[in-house]
Amino acid sequence: MAANGRGLKPALAGLQKLGRATNACPECPLGEHATQSVFGEGPVHARLMVVGEQPGDKEDLVGRPFVGPAGRLFDRAVAELGWSRDKLYVTNAVKHFKYELRGKRRIHKTPAQREADACLHWLESEIALVEPAALIALGGVAARSLLGRHVAVMSERGRWHEDAAGRQVLVTLHPSALLRGDPEQKAAAWKAWLADLSLASKVFEKARTPARKKTRPARKLNAVAATT
Ligand code: URA
Repeated sequence: MAANGRGLKPALAGLQKLGRATNACPECPLGEHATQSVFGEGPVHARLMVVGEQPGDKEDLVGRPFVGPAGRLFDRAVAELGWSRDKLYVTNAVKHFKYELRGKRRIHKTPAQREADACLHWLESEIALVEPAALIALGGVAARSLLGRHVAVMSERGRWHEDAAGRQVLVTLHPSALLRGDPEQKAAAWKAWLADLSLASKVFEKARTPARKKTRPARKLNAVAATT
């Protein structure tokens, strides 16, 4: 049972419903050009929620968050930290892929503030259902959506911040910043990124230790099944 008294099944049903609703969201034009919305996935009451910016080309086609190049880098970090992705709830601030066409290629475009604002209620509803103990904001768009203010990622990274509801939000770079970064600085940038993320290891560790003895085997309810 979650802290708000909401059980797993109703929370899962809520997430499924939300995921379907984002697909038909009329509140900004992004959905018209995207293949589908990309909703969050992961355990219904994950302790740690990771929030990215928006789906990329691959995510738009597959319908799952962080499955493209940035996602592979994120997965590598998760492995190096000794976390496992299937214990994380992973989502984005903006649910549709924004891009511009260059020939046949769809090139990522950063969402406008009004688009991130229009999408915010989906993210807030997701947070309310998952009730994570803490969140990680990957990049400026996610950080702004979560903290409700402009976040200077380079100076505010690697620290916990508090959102309006008192939740802890760790700010760090988006993995695509590492993909784009100076090749000579790659190793240092990687180390610094892992150091930022490792601040959330304590939260992750708790997810591995059941708070109390279970009297019967827990059924795994995962929002992945809800949306794919
Ligand atoms: N970048 C993001 O921010 N999210 C994704 O899901 C993929 C790339």
